[in-house]
Amino acid sequence: MKFNQRLFVLSFLSFGLVACGGSGGGGSNPPPASSSAPVSSSVPSASLVSSSSSSLLASSSIAVTSSSLSSSSSSSELASSSSSAAPVVMVLDMTTGWRGNGTDNSGVNVNSDGVSFTASGDNIGAVTDLAKPIQLEDAVVEMVVNVSAEFKASGANLQIFAQIKGGSWAGEWNCWSGNELFTAGTDITLTCTINEDDKKFNQTDSDVQIGIQAKGTPTGTVTIKSGKVTLKQTASSSSSTGSVYSANVNRLSELADFTIGVAVSNNDSPAYNILTNASEKAVVEKHFEQMTAGNIMKMSYLQNTQGTFTFANADAFVDYAASKNMTVHGHALVWHSDYQVPQFMKNWSGSAADFITALKTHVTTVVDHFEAKGNVVSWDVVNEALTDGSPSTFRADDSIFYKKSGNSAVYIEEAFKAARAAAPTATLYYNDYNIDQNNAKTTRLIEMITDFQARDIPIDGVGFQMHVFMDYPSIDSISNAIKKVVNKGLKVKITELDVSINNPYGNWPASKVASFTQASALDQKKRYCEIVKAYLDNVPAAQRGGISVWGTTDANTWLNDLYKTQFNNEKISWPLLFDNNYNDKPALRGFADALQGIPCTNL
Ligand code: XIL
Repeated sequence: MKFNQRLFVLSFLSFGLVACGGSGGGGSNPPPASSSAPVSSSVPSASLVSSSSSSLLASSSIAVTSSSLSSSSSSSELASSSSSAAPVVMVLDMTTGWRGNGTDNSGVNVNSDGVSFTASGDNIGAVTDLAKPIQLEDAVVEMVVNVSAEFKASGANLQIFAQIKGGSWAGEWNCWSGNELFTAGTDITLTCTINEDDKKFNQTDSDVQIGIQAKGTPTGTVTIKSGKVTLKQTASSSSSTGSVYSANVNRLSELADFTIGVAVSNNDSPAYNILTNASEKAVVEKHFEQMTAGNIMKMSYLQNTQGTFTFANADAFVDYAASKNMTVHGHALVWHSDYQVPQFMKNWSGSAADFITALKTHVTTVVDHFEAKGNVVSWDVVNEALTDGSPSTFRADDSIFYKKSGNSAVYIEEAFKAARAAAPTATLYYNDYNIDQNNAKTTRLIEMITDFQARDIPIDGVGFQMHVFMDYPSIDSISNAIKKVVNKGLKVKITELDVSINNPYGNWPASKVASFTQASALDQKKRYCEIVKAYLDNVPAAQRGGISVWGTTDANTWLNDLYKTQFNNEKISWPLLFDNNYNDKPALRGFADALQGIPCTNL
């Protein structure tokens, strides 16, 4: 489901400025505002922008921020960090995600002014969610509110608060704005610093709800016109700073109208086994709706000995996906890469015709088996069969399949035909790397597609692996390649997206990025955003096969192994959406920005 967020331009025509905690008095530590509130809203409630990236934060609002901070104890720290790095500002979305809090609340009214509630009693107000992980300690919450004449006359007060959802619903209750501060029908900016001593608002376990509620014996209406939360942290990656970054994305896959997937392991990588590692499960279940097996559906994992199929691990993997309502992208039926080609195929001494029969038996048996499960919806039928450099179209000397098929690429079409026969409705992809950047290879790809289509070979789409770098290939190059496939009427799926910070094939090691700095993290955010945007811009909705990232965290990216030699064993690609501790990286925000139509920036 696609969800468009709106960024707001605050009206600063008429407002006062009130820091919390000072005026009004009374009412300290009231009961939890909404201990009975449902833990619901799966829709993101805030977007995240840097303080300089949005018209919201035009000069007048920056003045507001700094003057409101000057009276708080955290101001100097935030001010000094913001001189070297932009603070993270989460702009609250006033169009969705809000609900009433407190007993007998009649709910909120989302209107063109913002979010209104009828202040019918003590502790009645409106709340919205900030998704975990969130580092809210020492953050400044700012809300522009407007009260009705009746509310002013009732003498009631307002209180901005934050509350950890679930458990004991611990709250921040120190902010208070007394009735004398309000003028009916006039915007006023209220601020509240979250400054609990025990840092309990730095949450990885629970979402936090923030809101504003009436205090005393209120009547009348309160409208929250806009809001933002300025985090103390800066927009750097948690892996470099030790702080927790929140991309404020409740569920990445909900932001897209196409499938968002991720490659995961089970027993091929025990430490990161999706079936046993709770952190893997949590991040996969939270953000993704499709899984690809990183290895265990490759040939030797399923048929290491001719005629003996071993499905137990893959079954557990596919069944787990089904139990979480996730589909599976099958990867890969035929791939030349030596480590996963069964010995019996490498040693094949029979005829080419018999080899092709054996290959088809593999495809048919595997696809048949998973067809019965119902949630394996697409396949990489053949992976990486095109050459990179030589004038020939197809990989030859380094492909067992080519050689054993009688020095012929006929195995490719035979695999597609067998897959189609076994799975009439699955989407069948040809998958490869560098087809987004190597013109000659892309041309060969298009020639193959043209030939297949002319001869009714059943190919439905092209998988772009998209293992890319920060600076290469260009977005133009990616877009042009995608367009060529789109023009053939095929689906386009980005099957293995990762964006390596370092490029061992580039100006290496002169250009080495030795640590994952804030600057790198934000550049990567922009790059992810631009790639996803290129996909959206160039692939019509009906031809979108989806986007999958190749792994969850930077700790277990395949590039750590691939680049071992080049990087002298340093793990310095940092290519994925989550850091070593499963915290969001700015890259996740970048991915979401593109899906939400928010401009791609490195701010
Ligand atoms: C990689 C796996 O992630 C690694 O664990 C394994 O050691 C090698 O293969 N293109 C593909 C994937 O199509 O199958 C590869 O997966 C990554 C490159």
